[in-house]
Amino acid sequence: MKNELIKQAHIAKEKAIPKYSNFHVGAALLTSDDKIYHGANIESSSYGLTICAERTALFQALLDGNREFKAIAVVSDSDDFCPPCGACRQLLSDYCSPEMEVILSNKSETKVLTLKELLPFSFNEEYLK
Ligand code: THU
Repeated sequence: MKNELIKQAHIAKEKAIPKYSNFHVGAALLTSDDKIYHGANIESSSYGLTICAERTALFQALLDGNREFKAIAVVSDSDDFCPPCGACRQLLSDYCSPEMEVILSNKSETKVLTLKELLPFSFNEEYLK
């Protein structure tokens, strides 16, 4: 499944619209019932409004009613990994299990981390009570 998710993230990357950075990112999010949602980054001329691949995948899946997720794969064209930015780590933590696998893949290697490893001691709904 890991390889399939990485493959889907590469397909998703083709949909990216990185008009300003030309940095293409693709994500593939696996739901608990084995559906795969694509995400890709979409940039704005007001740079801060740019949205990352991870969040577009998450939002599409949430809007379709999905609430449980098994894994997300993230890829770019860089030789290095493309670890999720802080905003994406927070959003993923808000909607996915701390044990969810985040699969990072570059041209030669794959690294698998849990969400909890990427964002320890995170702010969450417990602090709103
Ligand atoms: N980007 C992502 O889509 N995901 C990441 O994990 C890191 C960064 C995007 C945002 C922006 O369009 C471009 O990469 C450069 O920061």
